Amino acid sequence: MAKMWAGRTAGNTDSIADDFNSSIHFDCKMFKQDIEGSMAHAAMLGAKNIITSEEAQALIDGLAEILSDLESGKIAFDMSCEDIHMFIEQELTARIGDTGKKLHTARSRNDQVALDLRMYLRSETEDIISLVRKLLAVITDVADTHKASIMPGYTHLQRAQPITFGHHLMAYAMMLLRDIDRLADCKKRMNISPIGSCALAGTTYDTDREFEAEKLGFDGIALNSIDGVSDRDFCAELMSDIAILMMHLSRFSEEIILWSSWEFKFIELSDAYTTGSSIMPQKKNPDMAELVRGKTGRVYGDLLGLLTTLKGLPLAYNKDMQEDKESVFDAVETVKMCLQVFIPMIETMSVNTANMKTAAQKGFINATDLADYLVKKGMPFRSAYKISGQLVSKCIKENTVLEELPLESYKEFSELFDNDLYSEISLEACVSKRISKGGTSVKSVEEQIEYARNKI
Ligand code: ARG
Repeated sequence: MAKMWAGRTAGNTDSIADDFNSSIHFDCKMFKQDIEGSMAHAAMLGAKNIITSEEAQALIDGLAEILSDLESGKIAFDMSCEDIHMFIEQELTARIGDTGKKLHTARSRNDQVALDLRMYLRSETEDIISLVRKLLAVITDVADTHKASIMPGYTHLQRAQPITFGHHLMAYAMMLLRDIDRLADCKKRMNISPIGSCALAGTTYDTDREFEAEKLGFDGIALNSIDGVSDRDFCAELMSDIAILMMHLSRFSEEIILWSSWEFKFIELSDAYTTGSSIMPQKKNPDMAELVRGKTGRVYGDLLGLLTTLKGLPLAYNKDMQEDKESVFDAVETVKMCLQVFIPMIETMSVNTANMKTAAQKGFINATDLADYLVKKGMPFRSAYKISGQLVSKCIKENTVLEELPLESYKEFSELFDNDLYSEISLEACVSKRISKGGTSVKSVEEQIEYARNKI
């Protein structure tokens, strides 16, 4: 069939070139946005008397029918069309005749595709935000349950200081709050209408770009038509935000994987979110968490692919830009899938507080508090730090812990030590004394939970 764009050319394109050029197998996802955009465009053309109001109505009715037929499955995409835009226009003309050919007045596929993509992605962005909100709600609930469950806090993956599991989880809540902020901010810039930029230079028709933008729920219009058709910042921004969100999920996954190992045994994932081994009957593998960690690399690849595609492009539209969609769709679908499995995985995991507590008791993680004890009795911190270190070393040699070392041994190092040291270095005391804002005490964690809940 002759191409709709066969203006200057007469010969047919080679079928391999057609396949290579075609994008309908992935841009068909945007059929709804394409039709809604075209309906608004037809309404604008009618309102501005560029076409008659009867013609505008015929276009709108025809488009509405196509939309409902596609949604009900009555018709399918014609994969021989180059892209979704060509398919809808071809279908419209087949249905309503020559009036269909008026739809593309004062428009180009260049501004059309930019419009469709912005509309498609703004709704995906909302979906992602609402999934992150759900995850946040789950995390804050688990944190609330475990705001007093003591575990070792780590630096360098070495036991450092006692914290609570709730405190640890709330760190992830803070990350997710920032993710929501970033995504919402990205949506603001995304929600600017490019339609009316036309091919690149604007148009000689007396169009009303604001009319179309408003009809389609945009907050404003692209103020430079060349930028309107060339800009894919909104894809790069969304993918950057998704990449950061995936990085957070990946760090969390890494901890889930560590915590469910026999070496830690801090948590156990529900059977519903683990797998077995085909050879080792004892195995329960955290595949979901591993896949989230793995897919993070894939999403980084999506972002880098797009940035690389864009980096050498002259203005305005270039066909290279058709490559934007597969990567951004992949990033969006991947993060949604990851969140959908992550939320119930966290919701259903069981927490082994006894093992956490035992681990907290064995790493001298109250040594800082021992030093602080001496400081409060008047010793300079550096000297107190030194003595505390020597006492840890003595305990290691004698195979004991600070809580069980007798007072006489303490006295050999400093006369400032007294019986009250034992209550000061208990794990519970170490946690409950950390009342600084953002700290690990139950009260501080409760404040964090309240803050997060208010934000959700
Ligand atoms: N399928 C194209 C894309 O996704 C639509 C725009 C094509 N415009 C053009 N002049 N070839 O980018």
